[in-house]
Amino acid sequence: MKHTIYSPFDMHIHFRQEEMLRLIAPLSAKTFAGGVIMPNLIPPIDNAEHLLQYQSEIYEAVNGYDFTPFMTLFFRSYSERELLEIKDKIIGIKLYPAGATTNSDAGVKEMSKAEGTFALMEEMGIRLLVHGETHGFVMDREKEFISIYDYLAKKFPRLHIVMEHITTKEAVDFLDRYENVTATVTLQHLLITLDDVIGGYMNPHLFCKPIAKRYEDREALLEAALKAHPKLCFGSDSAPHPIHKKECCGCAAGVFTAPIALQVLTDLFEKNNSLENLQNFVSDNAIKNYSLTKSNKNVTLVKEPFKVPSQYGNVVPMYADGELNWSILSVQ
Ligand code: NCD
Ligand code: ZN
Ligand code: ZN
Repeated sequence: MKHTIYSPFDMHIHFRQEEMLRLIAPLSAKTFAGGVIMPNLIPPIDNAEHLLQYQSEIYEAVNGYDFTPFMTLFFRSYSERELLEIKDKIIGIKLYPAGATTNSDAGVKEMSKAEGTFALMEEMGIRLLVHGETHGFVMDREKEFISIYDYLAKKFPRLHIVMEHITTKEAVDFLDRYENVTATVTLQHLLITLDDVIGGYMNPHLFCKPIAKRYEDREALLEAALKAHPKLCFGSDSAPHPIHKKECCGCAAGVFTAPIALQVLTDLFEKNNSLENLQNFVSDNAIKNYSLTKSNKNVTLVKEPFKVPSQYGNVVPMYADGELNWSILSVQ
């Protein structure tokens, strides 16, 4: 049995820098036609010069693959002049509440102080991507942030707001409330709950922000993905950390899924009799929601076992050493 996906896009990826970038970027570029590159580097990407420098490093790292990196800028207060200079080079600006996740210390401390920039972004048609978590109890952070999404969506009705890596039923329900709100969802949040992270022996390789939630949350996310809800796009949030930063005290947040994402998604959609909706979920919805151009890159998968390596370099992937039901047959 075979299945072809046309022009798959990953709308949320971490490529990192230097050696890690050179290891990781080709693994996405091999099978994806393009992806949204997150700006949470140290220092964060918050000016045009740094952004263009990073983009050229990415092109060098994915050399030989047909892959479009959609660049993002790290949110801070920007002037009109700065935004005008950069708006055609980015797919959006990514807002992190300060301290909410990996490399987010330079994030926003007070939303009210960001309103001037939101207004400029709305005026210029620059998208706002958001890591939507408060600093409340870890299981409730996303749910609590919904009121902030609500205020933003209402106050800036022409600002396209993307709720990144949603993990709750509340976020799924919120998708239908405002025209200007869409979302991404990761691979792991369609598959795991908090039980898989800490219910038995703790699994640091499944620890990410936002943390995996309850069964009813996973069900709501899965249902929306399987029917390819038009406002929901695949964004792996593939977030590599070296093994010594995961298997240690003070484990870094992030699950590494880039090289297994399409194989696992195909299996998941097939098992749930929804294979016909996978194309919308990993490509067409993104093309519509972000006004992208379809690429000519097509990936054919075959229902033959794929043994997941224990590591890619110094990074442990999700399902390390496991066997997947689908493999990549060819990329054209
Ligand atoms: C991401 C990372 O490692 O950069 N980690 C994560 O747990 N998701 C940051 C993020 O997307 O929040
Ligand atoms: Zn995030
Ligand atoms: Zn992320």
